Amino acid sequence: MCGIMGYVGGREASSILLDGLRRLEYRGYDSAGIGTIDSKHKLNVVKDVGKVEQLAQKTELGGLRGIAGIAHTRWATHGGVTSENAHPHLSCKQEVAIVHNGIIENYLELRQELEGRGHRFISETDSEVIAHLIEEVYERKKDLLSTLIDVVQRLKGAYAFAAILVDAPNVMVGARQDAPLVVGLGKSENFLASDALAFIGNTDRVVFLDNRELVLLTEKNVKIYDFAGNLIQKPATQIAWELGSVSRREFEHYTLKEIHEQKDAVLQALRQDPRSVDYFVDAVQGAGKVYLTGCGTSFHAALLAKLLFTSYAKIPVEVLLSSEFEQYEGMLDEKSLLIAVSQSGETADVLSAVKAAKKMGARVLSIVNAMGSTLVRESACTLLNNCGPEIGVAATKSFTAQLMIFNMLALRLGHRDDELSELWSTGSLVEKALGLEDQVREMTERIHVANDFYFVGRSIHHPLALEGALKLKELSYIHAEGMAAGELKHGSLALISEGVPVVVLNPEDATYADTLSNASEVKARGGRIIGVSNKPSKVYDEYIEIPAAPPVLYPVLEAVPLQMMAYYAAISRQQNPDYPRNLAKSVTVK
Ligand code: M6R
Repeated sequence: MCGIMGYVGGREASSILLDGLRRLEYRGYDSAGIGTIDSKHKLNVVKDVGKVEQLAQKTELGGLRGIAGIAHTRWATHGGVTSENAHPHLSCKQEVAIVHNGIIENYLELRQELEGRGHRFISETDSEVIAHLIEEVYERKKDLLSTLIDVVQRLKGAYAFAAILVDAPNVMVGARQDAPLVVGLGKSENFLASDALAFIGNTDRVVFLDNRELVLLTEKNVKIYDFAGNLIQKPATQIAWELGSVSRREFEHYTLKEIHEQKDAVLQALRQDPRSVDYFVDAVQGAGKVYLTGCGTSFHAALLAKLLFTSYAKIPVEVLLSSEFEQYEGMLDEKSLLIAVSQSGETADVLSAVKAAKKMGARVLSIVNAMGSTLVRESACTLLNNCGPEIGVAATKSFTAQLMIFNMLALRLGHRDDELSELWSTGSLVEKALGLEDQVREMTERIHVANDFYFVGRSIHHPLALEGALKLKELSYIHAEGMAAGELKHGSLALISEGVPVVVLNPEDATYADTLSNASEVKARGGRIIGVSNKPSKVYDEYIEIPAAPPVLYPVLEAVPLQMMAYYAAISRQQNPDYPRNLAKSVTVK
């Protein structure tokens, strides 16, 4: 969703900001803009709808001078996709520029009040009130810190913002309340962003702001305060994500690169601090009731975890969709354990589920990819995916990393120590599955013209059927449905006619024979069966052979061809798989 980047230092800000915006593109956006203060203390803004590259082509950008600036990628919520609604927003006197992520819930009330005092608004956004408020308060106080303290008292909602003022041309300020904001510490320059990836090419020393914190940055100094104005000392963290892992390397898209990275990612996910794994195991064993929560792909990982915990460790688990969590008011208590699953650690629905669970007294643990994210800080303990930044909007390597962590936990909880060591074979098995790429591409090029696809599987293959359908939908825009194979005959079989593709997830395990019967029922009605298995069958019209493996690993191996199918369907339909329409990588609004 929206992305913030800010810079103050000795270099020309606009090119650093532009580079930061390019790195934020993966989050999903529909307009972008940059604002700087020049040596004549004038604010200059260039913004427009469309891609960062279009912004980069604008001739006005060459005229943007200044060593302090802010930039933004906007994913529209309040107000349409127009250049007026794009950020930065200016105050009436053009003395303050702001960029903002999140939602100011009381913006209508504030706007009315400000208009009543003569402020003129240009955009339809909730964000613009921040610029006007800062201008008005600063005129009175002539002090940045007390201005910010006043302004944040007036704002309701979840937000992170950065601002620059002509009166303080060497300073950038920011505030955080329930939306991420990270400081990057450079040498005689400092950065502020909603995501460390925005400045990671310049520094890997960061300070993660917490909720209700303000920051004032100059090229030499970073000062952090709480909302009451007390100075806070916070340690810097060295982040391990290297610049190299943010490049596409030889791959045409991030999505394909990340699919290929899974051969290492599945092993990285197993490299956990043993104390944290013990913490998880003890917490699950000691809990009165265990709940899992997540959204989208992370929800599918949680569904699979439920089956693993139940069958390997005989521990009953409930999986609750984060976006539906309000339904469960009063259901959790002090004896409950909630494990929240999220790639970004910033998904608003997940964070709000965690908040609600904590309010009910539950203990919260998490499985997260983005270190330093809000979810990590909201959890008593976290197991990190360790799979590096995932730029493609589609979750790929983060999903299989989540599955590996759940495999490890389930085997530990079930005291199946001998099987734990087998998990280390996953890297070479995934490598074999990656060898299916040419076959999957060729098949997808033939069948992508179908209007509807179905994905079916039983037991641990059911969440993979849901995930296969989600991947195909979001990347190629083909309608797809995933379901439990046994459910077909309870309704959906009515949709099967000549040539309708049905992907059958059927490796050789306890579910094999029943799933094959379901595949036969589909075939008898003209369906085109795409079998994903380690065992061929004449029922399959197309056969995608994954390597034979310990049963617990089959879902990871199935994920690879399903992701490739979605990727090549997008390519065949001339869609950009990295940035599917209407979607954002990190869904920071509810
Ligand atoms: O960052 P999260 O894992 O919390 O994101 C949750 C979903 O938005 C996400 O898994 C989404 O479904 C995937 N990007 C789909 O590929």
